[in-house]
Amino acid sequence: MKNTIITFKQAKQERKKLSTLTAYDYSTAKLIDEAGVNSILVGDSLGNVMLGYKDTLSVTMEDMIHHGKAVARGVTNALTIIDMPFMSYQISVYDAVSNAGRLIKETGINAVKLEGGIDMCPQIKAIVGASIPVMGHLGLTPQSIHALGGFKVQGKDEATAKRILEDAKAVEAAGAFALVLECVPAPLAELITNALTIPTIGIGAGAACDGQVLVYQDMLGMFSDFTPKFVRQFASVGEVMKTAVQAFCKEIQDGTFPAKEHEYTIAEEIIAKLY
Ligand code: KIV
Repeated sequence: MKNTIITFKQAKQERKKLSTLTAYDYSTAKLIDEAGVNSILVGDSLGNVMLGYKDTLSVTMEDMIHHGKAVARGVTNALTIIDMPFMSYQISVYDAVSNAGRLIKETGINAVKLEGGIDMCPQIKAIVGASIPVMGHLGLTPQSIHALGGFKVQGKDEATAKRILEDAKAVEAAGAFALVLECVPAPLAELITNALTIPTIGIGAGAACDGQVLVYQDMLGMFSDFTPKFVRQFASVGEVMKTAVQAFCKEIQDGTFPAKEHEYTIAEEIIAKLY
């Protein structure tokens, strides 16, 4: 059955946990959707894991639209969400609504995600007012990497913990249907989860969150540049891929691939006439 923002609302009320994974292309989105996640996020993490950038700041609207379209074509049941890239919503409410509209219209994705708290509430309100569901994102917000001084756990002292709690309440009041909490101490995420009526989706925020999200290359063991503490590797797909590629190379060399069953036939008389 198709997951919607109503599914998210009901899950919170019924204390059912929500699962989210990222995807950036048609085939992977299809597999992840068939496996039964509640939602698929076209994250701007595609800058890191698909395009090889060191951070997400260079990701463009065109990058997001290109990958978003592919994901939307592969998904049947999951709620699809797409990140608004850096500087597509921060400058003005006008930009935010116009770019959220482009992402939804041009990709076929169901909802947008953007980073930030109280300062981004006018943008969240206006996008929701244009009938586009918004997911918030607080804690370690990778688009603010330079302002935060690096990829660090957020909300460890009283002032920053209080600020994240206030931001979370403001994002909910602005109309967001869910909130990602990234790299915040588990007890703070639990407090925020209990304070909100919308579901929290944690990544490095402990088990009390209403759901969890991971980057699929991290949880499948396909990305070795950097593995954050919060990642559990559920499979070693990277190793499986390397072994398969080595076998492919070897079988080409030793002549065992392609075999007879991979060949197309033609009548012998036709070939004979060509000699
Ligand atoms: O871009 C992304 O993949 C994300 C998740 C890690 C939450 O924002």
